[in-house]
Amino acid sequence: MRTQVGIVGAGPAGLLLSQLLHLQGVDSAVLECRDREYVEHRVRAGVLEHGSAETLREAGVGKRLDAEGMRHEGIELRFGHHGHRIDFADLVGRTITVYGQQEVVKDLIAARVDAGGDVRFEITDIAFSGLDGARPRITFAGGALECDFVVGADGSHGVSRGYVSGLTTYERGYPYAWLGILAQVPPSAHELIYTRHERGFALHSMRSPSITRLYLQVTPDEQLEAWPDERIWSELSTRFTDGAGFSLSEGPVLDKGITPMRSAVATPMQYGRLFLAGDAAHIVPPTGAKGMNLAMADVRVLARAIAGYYADGRTDLLAAYTDTVSSRVWRYTQFSWWMTSMLHVDPHGDAFDEQLAAAALRYVASSRPMATALAENYTGLPYAEGWSYR
Ligand code: FAD
Ligand code: DHB
Repeated sequence: MRTQVGIVGAGPAGLLLSQLLHLQGVDSAVLECRDREYVEHRVRAGVLEHGSAETLREAGVGKRLDAEGMRHEGIELRFGHHGHRIDFADLVGRTITVYGQQEVVKDLIAARVDAGGDVRFEITDIAFSGLDGARPRITFAGGALECDFVVGADGSHGVSRGYVSGLTTYERGYPYAWLGILAQVPPSAHELIYTRHERGFALHSMRSPSITRLYLQVTPDEQLEAWPDERIWSELSTRFTDGAGFSLSEGPVLDKGITPMRSAVATPMQYGRLFLAGDAAHIVPPTGAKGMNLAMADVRVLARAIAGYYADGRTDLLAAYTDTVSSRVWRYTQFSWWMTSMLHVDPHGDAFDEQLAAAALRYVASSRPMATALAENYTGLPYAEGWSYR
């Protein structure tokens, strides 16, 4: 079997790449180890930057996003038991869209399948060969695929990264994890609330007018069994307490999970004919809502580079891939670290750390330039390549 681009992983990165390549007349095959049901129901990210939503529209998968996605013009930062609104529309003239990652994945899979695209599930034992030649090969249980390029979009636990020789990984662990729940209850506020309470961070988000998404800072070794629903609701309610009588609505818990936090950036993000995209190359702590958006930004650059190769024989864009995406990767790594450190309570921290975090939050809440910096990063930096798929 042959295709032009062999893509490993049917997450946002792999699927969007396949769709963008299709729009440029480039064939690809997406190989995913899990089944379709699993990837379409994995509850994860929920915030799309201005540019990510635009990219999905340009990719022809904006219909349900526009009908069901919730456009937000700001967020609330809550600390010292008071809320402070960061008005994105006013500060930077941009907005975000709250739309579940699994919905993005469903829309992209449907678009690929409708266009007769090759998306294969339950493909296991993936291995690569010939990456430094012109005809790399992907082998897997029961088959093989010859291609011109291989893209590792297989997430942080994937196999692709292991094939990049001379790889350096810059890493930072955090003494935090997030316990996330999805609850059958209307959101308790119109916007996202990022709160720093003495007992730790909490986040109020949503998926629809009837579904709330909530997160609670816990320690990385925390066990889910130690958190029956009543304990989660009680802790959330404590952390969201404000001086204005905020009340958190409770409802049946539909999904529950604990995610440890880590920053990691691997470089280079390419080796011969292999290119890494998304979480396969870098992960950020979720506090800045950047992971899915960064994955999408990577594949915009990569799709353009690959399309340029087929259309004009260009190899310069491919050669520059790591350099091109690195500045955004590090910008968002720093932003995510900043948001994480100012909003979480370090279990090993002291009173000095406490004062630093409070000073950082007060600064953002009271200074227009600082609020603008937050808004600029949160709603997403413009794409440097200045290029549209339309
Ligand atoms: P993935 O979505 O991980 O996709 C990789 C795919 O590859 C998976 O389907 C996997 O099954 C498959 N795969 C893995 N190994 C193999 C293999 N060997 N062979 C074949 N297939 C393989 N980001 C945001 O932008 N905003 C947020 O609000 C946000 N919140 C988050 C909340 C939580 C709780 C979590 C866990 C993450 C959050 N993120 C957020 C991060 C975001 O979910 C990831 O950054 C995003 O999924 C990255 O997309 P990806 O396509 O690179 O990787
Ligand atoms: C959500 C996740 C995040 O990591 C974040 O920063 C904001 C919202 C969410 O799942 O809705």
